[in-house]
Amino acid sequence: MTIIKNAVLGMVLISAAQFSLAAPIEPYSLYQEHCAKCHGESGAADNFRGYLYFARSFKNKDWQNKRTDTEILEDINKGPRIMPSFEKTLTEEQKNALVRVIRGFGR
Ligand code: HEC
Repeated sequence: MTIIKNAVLGMVLISAAQFSLAAPIEPYSLYQEHCAKCHGESGAADNFRGYLYFARSFKNKDWQNKRTDTEILEDINKGPRIMPSFEKTLTEEQKNALVRVIRGFGR
């Protein structure tokens, strides 16, 4: 019995792993899920928490020009001020996708 159970469990785990590998990253959905509540749907931080936490607008061209992608990645990992750290909760691929979303707001 345990052999069968283990085999079934193994198949479930393998198909779960395949699913997560195959699932494409949807950058803007990631942003909406993890970031929009503070940074706003359009990156402008023009919502309640945005004002409350003094989050900056990602639409600001000066800010966009001054910050490098590496610095933005560091901020996502660290979480400045009240922002949570996403170092462990997001994969490198997801963080890079979010950098592209943030860059998109500046265009
Ligand atoms: C709980 C609210 C909150 C959440 C959720 C949040 N942030 Fe932040 N974030 C802030 C605050 C507050 C700051 C510091 C003020 C600022 O610089 O906007 C900040 C700063 C930043 C900065 C640095 C801006 C600078 O000063 O150069 C980046 C980049 C950033 N956040 C990206 C993200 C991304 C990407 C996500 C989603 C993975 C996210 N944040 C989720 C509140 C939040």
